[in-house]
Amino acid sequence: MSDHNAATLKPHVPTYGPCSIRDLKPGEVKLWCTCGLSQKQPWCDGSHKGTSFLPLKWTVPERAQTVYLICACKYTKRPPICDATHIGLTCSIHEQIEGCPLKQEHSDLGDRKLCEQCGFVPDW
Ligand code: FES
Repeated sequence: MSDHNAATLKPHVPTYGPCSIRDLKPGEVKLWCTCGLSQKQPWCDGSHKGTSFLPLKWTVPERAQTVYLICACKYTKRPPICDATHIGLTCSIHEQIEGCPLKQEHSDLGDRKLCEQCGFVPDW
């Protein structure tokens, strides 16, 4: 995972693919959701509150594109731009959740919104 979060944090995967975003203006500042909990993917809606995740501030380049493919799996190595990491990610995320050292806590996360060790979210 990139340095937008501590290396040990594992986000939730809201979508195994990018969001196609149009009409971004050069110089416009966006907050990319890194936790995967936002209901306004790929952007932050504040749902990370109560977690260790923080949104990534991204400024739209001066030479803006018509369409941006913005990562919505949250595992890109070039945030917030999709780098195709989502391809084949399904199996590794399943293994990550199944092998989570905190799996016994998944049935009752208490106040936590997600398991930051593996990205598990109950009832997503
Ligand atoms: S909602 Fe995910 S980082 Fe803010």
